[in-house]
Amino acid sequence: MKPEISRVSQISPDQSVVCILGKNEIPESLKLSKPEKEFAKKKIAARDEYVIINSYFKTTYIVRTKDGVKDYKVREELRKTASILRTFIKSNNHSELVITSDQAPKGVVEAFTEGLVLSFYSFDKYKTRKENGDKKNYPSKLHLHGDIGDKDINWLIDLTDAVYMIRDLINEPVNHLNAPAFAEEIKKIGSSGGFMVEVLTRGKIEALKMGGLLAVNKGSVDPPVFCILEWKPEKYLNSDPLVLVGKGIVYDTGGLNIKTGDYMDNMKGDMAGGAAVTGVMYTIARTGLPLHVIALVPATDNRPGGNAYTQGDIITMHNKMSVEVANTDAEGRLILADAISYASRFKPELIIDIATLTGSAAMTFGNQAIAVMGNADRKYFKLLEDCGNEVYERIAELPFWEEYGEFIKSDNADIKNVGGREAGAITAGKFLEHFTEYPLIHMDIAGTGGLKKDDFYRLKDGPGAGLRLLATFLKRLAEGYKAKK
Ligand code: BES
Ligand code: MN
Ligand code: ZN
Repeated sequence: MKPEISRVSQISPDQSVVCILGKNEIPESLKLSKPEKEFAKKKIAARDEYVIINSYFKTTYIVRTKDGVKDYKVREELRKTASILRTFIKSNNHSELVITSDQAPKGVVEAFTEGLVLSFYSFDKYKTRKENGDKKNYPSKLHLHGDIGDKDINWLIDLTDAVYMIRDLINEPVNHLNAPAFAEEIKKIGSSGGFMVEVLTRGKIEALKMGGLLAVNKGSVDPPVFCILEWKPEKYLNSDPLVLVGKGIVYDTGGLNIKTGDYMDNMKGDMAGGAAVTGVMYTIARTGLPLHVIALVPATDNRPGGNAYTQGDIITMHNKMSVEVANTDAEGRLILADAISYASRFKPELIIDIATLTGSAAMTFGNQAIAVMGNADRKYFKLLEDCGNEVYERIAELPFWEEYGEFIKSDNADIKNVGGREAGAITAGKFLEHFTEYPLIHMDIAGTGGLKKDDFYRLKDGPGAGLRLLATFLKRLAEGYKAKK
């Protein structure tokens, strides 16, 4: 269960507290005894990153900001320290915990809280017995103390709620979450977040001639869905909408070009991009961001089957282009292409797609960066980079040169869906570029969207990659519009 987060103006002497130190002095407000204080001082002087003091009625966690780092790195180190402290915090079984700071830079309490809350998540709904009969619990209430605005607290609450929701979706296996079930979950998130959701089912998808989505779906026993999410507040600052597109492959077997060995591991999470944009919509709607934003999530599983699409098939896409299927495992770009083409009807300011798209992106950057490329104005890339550092979902840009477009030329159709092993992440982006005249940024989260093991507060399987980045990007865009008015 996610803890409740609220603000308090007072700390009572018997409450357990996390205190983030700005200066290396132990504040009086912690009400420690003299020997406790001496002990803490010694540890801090020895440059320990944290000190834990167990008093009779409470525990005090003193956290130092790391030496030799500054700005956003300070906040990231605190998220990580929080994730290390989670084990101690759990073993102490607090019902509530205060988080405060003493003359530390702004934003540290929020960052620590974020790291802690994201570390508390677990996917255990199918376990009939909880780990080792463990009776210890995480605190159900976190009280933030200090100079933190209502807006910042609400943002943190809504954003972390969204991360929990989408982690649940990504971790859900396909036998419990096929494409229609995914659409139902998106609808539920729409109602609780306050944004509109329309789900196009097979008939409508056929009428729209979404040949990519329909081809990938052919081997499935479940119908495809195409979800349209819209947040259009009464007053918004952008004249043309921003459109997000998220890959919603609820399971990727590879299709007839079936994935061998352990390549099918965690392919239940191949809808992480679709989940991420859903979480972004939830966050911006809950916080009332004054922007008009639309998100599109085409969804199906990709399986072999009697009627499955095959290598060599030539299909006609929503934008009427013909595509030769050179590999049925390059399915993500086929469903995204139809969505990106559909996006044109909104005359968007910018289209951003996010997808667990290529092993190539994962091989290039590992779990450390989101591969980004596109033809949009540089200002958007700059903003993405800044936001990426701030939330520590960093982006790394790949070239988007026209020469890479040559790789996907086909002898039999307008283009083909793969361009060989070289530059695989880039040629996938180049493929998508064919499907719109509007500015496009393509984000490949194959490396960050699913983790083999926990990485501090980024928990294994579905950490929820791209959500905090894109939500923060939109928030900053809105601030930019406001400044211009
Ligand atoms: N969903 C996969 C990409 C992927 C791989 C995501 C590993 C996360 C971890 C995608 O649909 C895929 O299969 N891509 C192929 C494309 C290839 C056939 C051109 C790949 O990258 O191997
Ligand atoms: Mn695939
Ligand atoms: Zn895939």
